[in-house]
Amino acid sequence: MNTMTKYWTVDPFYDPQNPSIQEAAQLILSGQTVAFPTETVYGLGADARSKEAVERIFQAKGRPSDNPLIVHVAKRSQLDLFVGEVSETASRLIDEFWPGPLTLVLPVKEGTISPNATAGLNTVAVRMPDHPVALSLIEACGCPIAAPSANRSGKPSPTRAEHVLEDLQGLIGGILDAGPTGIGLESTVVELRSRTIHILRPGGIGVEQLQKISSNVSCEESGDRGHQANEAHNPRSPGMKYTHYAPAGEMLVVQGTFPEQVTARMQSEVDKAKRSGAKTGVLTFDEHVSRFHADFIVSLGSKDHLETAASRLYDALRQFDRENVTFIVAEACPQDGIGLAVMNRMLKAAGYRFVQM
Ligand code: TXA
Ligand code: MG
Repeated sequence: MNTMTKYWTVDPFYDPQNPSIQEAAQLILSGQTVAFPTETVYGLGADARSKEAVERIFQAKGRPSDNPLIVHVAKRSQLDLFVGEVSETASRLIDEFWPGPLTLVLPVKEGTISPNATAGLNTVAVRMPDHPVALSLIEACGCPIAAPSANRSGKPSPTRAEHVLEDLQGLIGGILDAGPTGIGLESTVVELRSRTIHILRPGGIGVEQLQKISSNVSCEESGDRGHQANEAHNPRSPGMKYTHYAPAGEMLVVQGTFPEQVTARMQSEVDKAKRSGAKTGVLTFDEHVSRFHADFIVSLGSKDHLETAASRLYDALRQFDRENVTFIVAEACPQDGIGLAVMNRMLKAAGYRFVQM
């Protein structure tokens, strides 16, 4: 299926007169897909009520049909249309974090959202994005918008419109370009079991923030390796069992207490790969960048500012691809705050190839 992808540039500070958003909304209401910016990553939106429209998302992404989509709303009252009971804890999370990078898995009302958007589950993942363009688009559509990240399945999520075009040009109806997204990693997905907030995917809202709402926060998807088995056997969030965020080259993550040891091991892995003919890449932090010799070196910013690392990670992974790097060694980061999500994505990108020093 090849189609002409419409391209609109919109002011990230939002210009309410901009007709592009209305045009994009019309395209969505006619059953097509449109990529749009959110505060996390670009999403690929379609009318969540329409089986055919949602099917177009799965086709464009090459996404397995058992991996459900996140449904986006612009107003809390939209939930009444398609969500069953909202528990007290869910309600408090919504009050505290919406609009923002928190997705809640809630009971779905049958016959509202198209079953292919929820992969036939009796729950629906919902969020309200904190981006003026996303909110205006959803509002202009007047319906819930199903939107996974706007990348080909398995590739790093798009944090810039160029990334979307790299993966999906000719496969989607249109794209609203409002420049780079802010957070750069996806929303935190949570499910509530009695009073426990269960993190299915770490993301833009950290554990520490969730603990303000309930002291019972648990995390299925941590950055550690032991988790892999867990995920493979019984993923509560179906998407977590698939390879994700992967660059084309092979990737290895090195973690340890002493930076000298970590960077020395990283360099020795680069040297070894170089000897066997690889084009080598290093993914590190400002503090250590000068320690490496490799074909292509990318810094995620200071180790003391992991928000920057989050915003740069996916673009960095795509840069290695553009440079045809075949072996990447990456430096692990602390897992506080957004660091948990950064490590989670790094390990997934590496297919859990991991060295602990
Ligand atoms: O930041 C984000 O969340 C971005 C932007 C575009 O909003 N969206 C995004 O969607 O990351 P996607 O489809 O790439 O990831 C959705 C995740 C998957 O891991 C999926 O399995 C999980 O949410 N999910 C969706 N519905 C679910 C459900 N009913 N129960 C459990 N997990 C669910
Ligand atoms: Mg995704």
